[in-house]
Amino acid sequence: MADDSRPAGAVQSILELSAFNPAARDNPHPMLKTMREDCPVFRDEAAKVWLLSRYKDVRETVNDRSFVRHPTKAEEGSLSARFVEERQERGTSILFLDDPDHARIRQPLAKAFYARINRMRPEIEAMIDAIIEKAPASGPFELMAEIAVPVPVLVIARILGVDEARLDDFRQWSEEVILGLNPVRTPEEDEALIRGAYALDAYFAELMEARRKAPQDDLVSDMVQLQGSGEAEISDGELRNNLEALLVGGNLTTTDLIGNGVWLFLTHPGQIRTFRDNPGLAAQAVEEVLRFEAPVSITSRILPDDRDVGGCPMKARQPVWMSLAGANRDPEVFEEAETFDITRKRASHVAFGGGPHICIGAPLARIEARHVYLKLFERYPDLRLAEQELAWRTLPFFRGLEKLIVEG
Ligand code: HEM
Repeated sequence: MADDSRPAGAVQSILELSAFNPAARDNPHPMLKTMREDCPVFRDEAAKVWLLSRYKDVRETVNDRSFVRHPTKAEEGSLSARFVEERQERGTSILFLDDPDHARIRQPLAKAFYARINRMRPEIEAMIDAIIEKAPASGPFELMAEIAVPVPVLVIARILGVDEARLDDFRQWSEEVILGLNPVRTPEEDEALIRGAYALDAYFAELMEARRKAPQDDLVSDMVQLQGSGEAEISDGELRNNLEALLVGGNLTTTDLIGNGVWLFLTHPGQIRTFRDNPGLAAQAVEEVLRFEAPVSITSRILPDDRDVGGCPMKARQPVWMSLAGANRDPEVFEEAETFDITRKRASHVAFGGGPHICIGAPLARIEARHVYLKLFERYPDLRLAEQELAWRTLPFFRGLEKLIVEG
């Protein structure tokens, strides 16, 4: 849609839709609705990116294997091209790779990761039980710090094979590395980020070497074995980057899926009643939380050639960003899209993206969230929100709560 056809007062920049804008941070959905209705194929000239917000356009684009992803393939000066500076030196994880490298790394990694998750499911659930049982038996507590933050980091540490003795260090480095997702860092945070990234690199190099010598029952052992036997053609640097991507990609996102879900349930008493009466709905409830308050608001692709997308002519190298949160409330696809309803059965959401880059961690996030909701609502039959001023995190394109004080 050309600039001059934009309605007065319409969004001018995609940053206005992000958590940098206090209105969008508190509730992005009214702005996304306006966007979807008035300007579903939006051009941000300053950021040099397109933004799609209709489900149909987003679904078609994420699924289309001809789009590319590597930041060097994006138009110079565009928001997508800026990812390159940070990653050039170390190489990137599968998140920004294209075929054949993407498939070469993702296929063996996904196979080993999924086999391990399936095998470890009872252990993962037992870890979650233990974390929830450690929370105060009654009275107010901060759900994010007590449950939503520790669950994903401790689970991924166990899957990867982080030694118990290094668990505290590992948690600390993970938290430092996650600062990389925040583009407005203080100098102290910058320092912490660099310190964490180096420490994690060194730790993973050490862990891979140790598992090569003495394999254990963990994912790092699986991967170095596949690498050693030639079944997986992955260099040491690539393996390290991608094991770290499992850590960084999965923590904040799953934390937010847990936090957003508990908040949604506690603010929708009818839904929590339905959940308690029908625990069999747990898996479906996770999908509805993902649809209704997607922890990751945006993903992107890059055009490999000139073509029309969503009915608009676009040029090769132009990045196409997609509002996953916008698509997930598109009334063309979801009946009563603005209603949180765990019994809904219709179309699948796009909270995990789609196509070749669809979130590799989706099965794990689903297992964790499902079990947290089940166990939490079972342990606290009268769980409720404490009096508080709710604060959403200021991290652009992620949606999650800073804190959530609940009363058991
Ligand atoms: C609720 C939790 C999560 C959400 C909402 C989420 C969301 C996403 C999204 C939107 C993408 C981009 C997909 C696309 O562009 O089509 C993605 C990719 C990715 N996610 Fe997740 N994620 C979650 C959990 C996890 C977990 C638990 C892990 C790892 C343990 C993980 C690791 C990754 C990786 C490595 C990629 C890149 C995949 C590729 O490009 O091939 N994520 N995720």
